[in-house]
Amino acid sequence: MRILVTGGAGYIGSHTVIALIENGYDVVVIDNLSNSSPKSIERIEQITGRPVSFYEADILDKKAMNDILDKEKIDACIHFAGLKAVGESVQKPWEYYENNLQGTLVLVEAMKNHNVKNFIFSSSATVYGDPEFVPITEECPKKACTNPYGWTKSMLEQILTDIQKADSEWNVILLRYFNPIGAHKSGLIGENPNGIPNNLMPYITQVAVGKLKELGIFGNDYDTPDGTGVRDYIHVVDLAEGHVKALNKIKENCGLKIYNLGTGNGVSVLELVKTFEETTGQKIPYSIKPRRAGDVATVYASSALAEKELGWKARYGIREMCEDSWRWQSMNPNGFEE
Ligand code: NAD
Ligand code: UFG
Repeated sequence: MRILVTGGAGYIGSHTVIALIENGYDVVVIDNLSNSSPKSIERIEQITGRPVSFYEADILDKKAMNDILDKEKIDACIHFAGLKAVGESVQKPWEYYENNLQGTLVLVEAMKNHNVKNFIFSSSATVYGDPEFVPITEECPKKACTNPYGWTKSMLEQILTDIQKADSEWNVILLRYFNPIGAHKSGLIGENPNGIPNNLMPYITQVAVGKLKELGIFGNDYDTPDGTGVRDYIHVVDLAEGHVKALNKIKENCGLKIYNLGTGNGVSVLELVKTFEETTGQKIPYSIKPRRAGDVATVYASSALAEKELGWKARYGIREMCEDSWRWQSMNPNGFEE
């Protein structure tokens, strides 16, 4: 099968491209490089020893999307391309709605024009808002989102659900990711945020490498065992593997499916910091700051459904996630920049 991967130069996309190639798939990558580097494509080629078909193109560009689908015989699309910075989305809602919603509509229309109706979408645990219960199952009700980024995920889930409902030839899998961290074992690819990181692990690794002075921990008065926020961190290589398993499900003509991809383990900010220090030998100075707007106390998944229906289960624990994030950061202190 030949798989179109949008956003394949990005963090999760690049790891997934490797997993696909290693599982015998042909891959075509589209990325406009707005949040990634062409070096990640070179590194994928270095890791897999295979050339990658890469188009520098924008999913908003109707003609480009149709031209690529004219040229390449595609069987399914894994759609990662999108803007993802929560805080920025509050400042630039229009850009987020245009890029994520309009971009997906253009992509889906081009696919329909070419009778390609197999689609895997990167959704997020953010659609559960402050979750009704934990561990979060797929039945947990969706809630109001606290930012435009989250709304784009929630709305796209609805749009894709309706498209599948209207035409049962579509197979659509919505994958709700929990908190991806870690990196490929080689240390050649990893998360490469622009500017000061918003997310916890890249902030920790940048403190460890000496680019930032200390970590601010956003609140220690949550109703959690140590008062800091609890999340379900998942190794990005496990997450990538989840997409390979989802493609197997697509081959069964699955219709619409929704799966959480998490480990089922809740880990607090302080636990993650402590594990990072233990596994890497790097000291992470921190201070307690006020709570961050929009954060919730505890988010972790039940991944029982993915295990049952996809035969997928996360293999790596937070020790490996810390080691692998650190290998990537220490080998590439400036990410993909020289
Ligand atoms: P990323 O920014 O590293 O990757 C996204 C890629 O999409 C980038 O390479 C970017 O250049 C590209 N892109 C953006 N807009 C585009 C456009 N209009 N046309 C073509 N390419 C475009 O992000 P990531 O962490 O790899 O996330 C991948 C997907 O998973 C995103 O949709 C994100 O919202 C979703 N997701 C991420 C997380 C997370 O914590 N990283 C959690 C849940 C869901
Ligand atoms: N945190 C800190 N200091 C920091 C950064 C984060 O204490 O400098 C804390 C947060 O308060 C939270 C935890 O670390 O308790 C994790 O925060 P992240 O920003 O790493 O992750 P979030 O759970 O807030 O959000 C992530 C993605 C979203 C996605 C969501 C659910 O950034 O895009 O997971 O999947 F929607």
